[in-house]
Amino acid sequence: MKLFAKKTDETQIPQEKLPKHVAIIMDGNGRWAKKHKAQAAFGHRAGMEPVHTVIRMSNDLHINTLSLYAFSTENWTRSPEEVDALMGLLCEFFFKDIDELIEKNVHIRVLGDKDGLPKRSRDVLYDAEKRTESCTGMNLCLAINYGSRQEIVRAAALYARDCVEKGLKPAELTEKAFSDYLYTAGLPDVDLMIRTSGEMRLSNFLLFQNAYAEFDFPVKLWPDFSGEDYMEALKAYASRDRRFGGRKKSGS
Ligand code: FPP
Repeated sequence: MKLFAKKTDETQIPQEKLPKHVAIIMDGNGRWAKKHKAQAAFGHRAGMEPVHTVIRMSNDLHINTLSLYAFSTENWTRSPEEVDALMGLLCEFFFKDIDELIEKNVHIRVLGDKDGLPKRSRDVLYDAEKRTESCTGMNLCLAINYGSRQEIVRAAALYARDCVEKGLKPAELTEKAFSDYLYTAGLPDVDLMIRTSGEMRLSNFLLFQNAYAEFDFPVKLWPDFSGEDYMEALKAYASRDRRFGGRKKSGS
């Protein structure tokens, strides 16, 4: 199936009401597989369809950044078969879809420690980043071997190095300057965080970037999450009143 074969109805939500950055914790593949009396790998494969759907729709809707949590630093504790299946799916995704992503001007960014991945996955990810580095359309961030605390500690270490090597002054550090040391440097903060399967946790995902995010916890398991479900989440976001710690201007 071609990644961008279907077209999204762009008229349902005014552009200014859409989030700039959507992050998704694609949870429930294991439970979905269990329901179908199959191994977890079967659930992860089934989860590729909604991956395609949210990428296509986000791109059609001109959402600036879509971040998908594909593999956490904690996921190494799963069985070797499951880890292999996930790494295989990631490679397959790039082999099959990279040309279409480039055609659509999608910029791939990997969040996480690529160097801790098996060589094949690492090479595929470096290649995808390189081939899309001049793309100016949607940012598609894949969090792979990612943990937010690790990301923050790494940023602090990189900043400390620059203090020593470039003479930066700790007292002058700002939130903006610090965020440029994160994997998400230059990207907007998360506006909408979606976690499927009814679980209501952040699981070490984009802790710094989620400071003012709106949350949505659809109960569907990830492989069952449809384009309609995604549109519902976006509509619910569009109707929220975001105050960022301030007060409503209307005086209510
Ligand atoms: C959580 O479900 C899901 C994952 C650990 C992996 C999700 C990865 C994919 C859908 C493939 C991603 C590929 C690309 C290219 C983005 P779980 O297994 O923890 O579910 P459970 O809680 O029901 O066991």
